[in-house]
Amino acid sequence: MSTQTSPEPQKPVRRITVPQIAARKGGAPIVSLTSYHAHTAAIVDRYADFILVGDSLGMVMHGMESTVGVPLDLMIMHGRAVVRGTRRALVVVDMPFGSYEESPAMAFRNAARVMKETQCGAVKLEGGARMAETIRFLTDRGIPVMAHIGLTPQSSHVMGGFRTQGRDAESWPVHEADARAVAEAGAFAMVLEGMVEPLAARITQAVPIPTIGIGASPDCDGQILVLEDMLGLNPRPPKFVKVYGELGNLIEDAVRRYAEDVRARAFPGEAQVYR
Ligand code: KIV
Repeated sequence: MSTQTSPEPQKPVRRITVPQIAARKGGAPIVSLTSYHAHTAAIVDRYADFILVGDSLGMVMHGMESTVGVPLDLMIMHGRAVVRGTRRALVVVDMPFGSYEESPAMAFRNAARVMKETQCGAVKLEGGARMAETIRFLTDRGIPVMAHIGLTPQSSHVMGGFRTQGRDAESWPVHEADARAVAEAGAFAMVLEGMVEPLAARITQAVPIPTIGIGASPDCDGQILVLEDMLGLNPRPPKFVKVYGELGNLIEDAVRRYAEDVRARAFPGEAQVYR
């Protein structure tokens, strides 16, 4: 008689779709986190409506000073890992700096690569009115686009750093025009990053697609955080981050105890060796 048990049947992949996210405008808040690798994505998948493979991975995973240096191939590699590790949430992959701004045709070529090679459900790109033509070009050709306005980290060199937007009410019409332009161009949702709360609330009221806030407003249609920030792995998290776990301390404690065990020849112990 065989002692082998049959493998667990694979759970079917049934992902939240782009139209389902778009339909959440004004409804139950949309939950989102970033993730860059399969194991964390599998955990996030159980709770998030969409997972963003953000180009923040350049800073978080690869120690870059900004997101400007992130290459397209790196986004595709991490995007694939997150899609493989998940079955429920919509996966959105960031288009990195330099991969879409030059022309709509260039944006399509690179976004199509991202969609084909990662099997993700949508891409995200930064920029308001100036990106409207590109957003229209992509959505008309089958590529769902999440827009990203307000503080756009890929433009941090032009902005002079990571600056909260809308502190001066005179700038509000520009941000509002950006929001209207990306919605009219066909974006299915937009990230509002690093902007004063009343401006984010006003934009949320004004546009017909969900707004996803990060350092924005509780009135946004959803919220997103960088996973490592909310897990306590960033030693200097931005003001808008609420830390939900102290993973940095947990990891340090585990590494310290492991080092002590190895030095004391207490690891590997009887349970960890093959006799
Ligand atoms: O790259 C990223 O993680 C992002 C989020 C901050 C929205 O764009």
